[in-house]
Amino acid sequence: MSEEKIYPVPAQFDALIDKQQYEKMYADSIRDPDAFWGEQARQRLDWIKPFSKVSNYSFAKDDLHIRWFEDGTLNVSYNCLDLHLEERGDQTAIIWEGDDPDNSLHISYRELHEKVSRLGNALREQGVKKGDRVTLYLPMIPEAAVAMLACARIGAVHSVVFGGFSPGALADRIVDCEASIVITADQSVRGGKKVPLKANVDKALAQERVTTVEKVIVVKRTGGDIEWTDGRDLWYEEITASADSDCPPEEMNAEDPLFILYTSGSTGKPKGVLHTSAGYLLYAGMTHELVFDYRPGEVYWCTADVGWVTGHSYIVYGPLANAATTVMFEGVPSYPDNSRFWEIIDKHQVNSFYTAPTAIRALMRDGDEPVKKCSRKSLRVLGSVGEPINPQAWEWYYHVVGDGRCPIVDTWWQTETGGTLITPLPGATDLKPGSATRPFFGVQPALVDTDGNELDGANNGALVLKGSWPGQMRTIFGDHERFFQTYFATFENVYFTGDGARRDEDGYYWITGRMDDVLNVSGHRMGTAEIESALVAHPSVAEAAVVGFPHDLKGQGIYAYVTLSAGKEPSDALLGELSQWVRTEIGPIAKPDFIQFAPGLPKTRSGKIMRRILRKIAENDYGNLGDTSTLAEPGVVNDLIDRRMNR
Ligand code: WT7
Repeated sequence: MSEEKIYPVPAQFDALIDKQQYEKMYADSIRDPDAFWGEQARQRLDWIKPFSKVSNYSFAKDDLHIRWFEDGTLNVSYNCLDLHLEERGDQTAIIWEGDDPDNSLHISYRELHEKVSRLGNALREQGVKKGDRVTLYLPMIPEAAVAMLACARIGAVHSVVFGGFSPGALADRIVDCEASIVITADQSVRGGKKVPLKANVDKALAQERVTTVEKVIVVKRTGGDIEWTDGRDLWYEEITASADSDCPPEEMNAEDPLFILYTSGSTGKPKGVLHTSAGYLLYAGMTHELVFDYRPGEVYWCTADVGWVTGHSYIVYGPLANAATTVMFEGVPSYPDNSRFWEIIDKHQVNSFYTAPTAIRALMRDGDEPVKKCSRKSLRVLGSVGEPINPQAWEWYYHVVGDGRCPIVDTWWQTETGGTLITPLPGATDLKPGSATRPFFGVQPALVDTDGNELDGANNGALVLKGSWPGQMRTIFGDHERFFQTYFATFENVYFTGDGARRDEDGYYWITGRMDDVLNVSGHRMGTAEIESALVAHPSVAEAAVVGFPHDLKGQGIYAYVTLSAGKEPSDALLGELSQWVRTEIGPIAKPDFIQFAPGLPKTRSGKIMRRILRKIAENDYGNLGDTSTLAEPGVVNDLIDRRMNR
């Protein structure tokens, strides 16, 4: 074994999958993937019409297609609800914990089934048909899960937009998928503060380019004042109360779309990542069960927002496919105080807990006392997701939060992958703090050099995946060519993740971060191009370049270099205005940490901005600027450094 610190599987940990089983099942899954996945799909999913073919895919330019179980039919909401009613109808499906600690709710499988059926019928009454797109812009309330499942029940395709996005960002996403319905709430509440969701929807729909939305369905969350457009706006409570509670599920092909979820890339507008029905559900359910070692009756809590893929796969679809009890938390870790997470764990007797490194780092800063005053005895497995976890935060999570008893699953994956691909299994994997460890069943990671040559043994390179897995995205909605260009053009016949990684002598993977112009800010994915285009939309800005820099809490911070238009003067007031501008254009998560005025940006003679240099300056690392000989105007670099040092 290598020099890194190793935490072996605890001897007394009795898991679904042990070391021998992992090795055998992994080998089987790679030797004959169709046999492996065929068996899993028959065991784990309930089919209307069984499939006869397992996989059918090609990553080649002229023939890019990915299909799993392509002639089978099923319904995702049936698999997440109806299937469990007989045995677990009275079991809690969702524990909702409100922003206010005195506000929580248990919803049984039977109740959830009824809510989903009523909304499904209400949507059908509004004319929603199989294949139609429905945009969800909701707080973390049970209705978010109900709306996702109601869409799945009637074959509509949901597109959840994170409630922290601005009206403009919401409008972009509605326009791209041509949604006919938006489901929202009057307001959301987080950390005691209200966000005007309905007013944001009104602003988005007021934009001329938004032409497809016919109805807006509004959940009453706070009862706060909102504007109302007669004929367009409908109260959720009214239309579901009058709807029938018997809603026959639509028979869907395995490859019919389930949802579209927008994510940032290195260029252009966010991409509509499209996931389909059977393969996605199988992969979300199987990984949820085995990665968290989930057992019937346990309480499982993922702290993500349903606006991100983690919320889709590991709050809603994965857990419900397994008839689990899933916790949905409306609030934030610091409200009413920084013990909230641990209070909730005790209150609901949570057995597995899944959160992001950025939250762990923030809570670690407050010391051990807020953790130690809670029992946390119910915990069995801890999870981490969204960005690399630094070993220091890992150790704190392990020793303080988990009292040294609970394995940590550091799960590496992406919106595109549907579920976790590189991850420990609690009973099968010895842990190394900071490593996502080894591949899940059926997953074949590889490292390649810049020419695409596969590297073996302990090595460092671009992380690619050979072959497909059922949870893989199928296309970018409306732009299959971009799907090819983004993921399959860099290296031939493999999926390129955009991440770099190191593999050690034990075959463990260590994700080193994005190799493209994508930032990871507090586990949120941001395209530098999106922030730049927001900045240049401001009348005072001529040009902007955005890079990431290491940030203690956020993992990466946002550093923006801004060249002003002729006649505009730099000032502190303008700095504040630009910062606020990005916040309103995209959302609070995109607000730059630093903006630096730059009379000129370092460019090559062909006019390409040299981000490598800008990154170094943002990092305060001037000794290491690399080759600057190809710069059109080498002088701008010294000027930028002077300004950086004098800020
Ligand atoms: C990017 C994907 C995974 C769902 C939430 C984020 C980074 C994610 C890890 C991890 C190191 C990680 C990668 C990846 N990432 N998990 N455990 N260790 N890096 O999904 O918004 O699509 O972002 O997040 O860079 O490419 P996403």
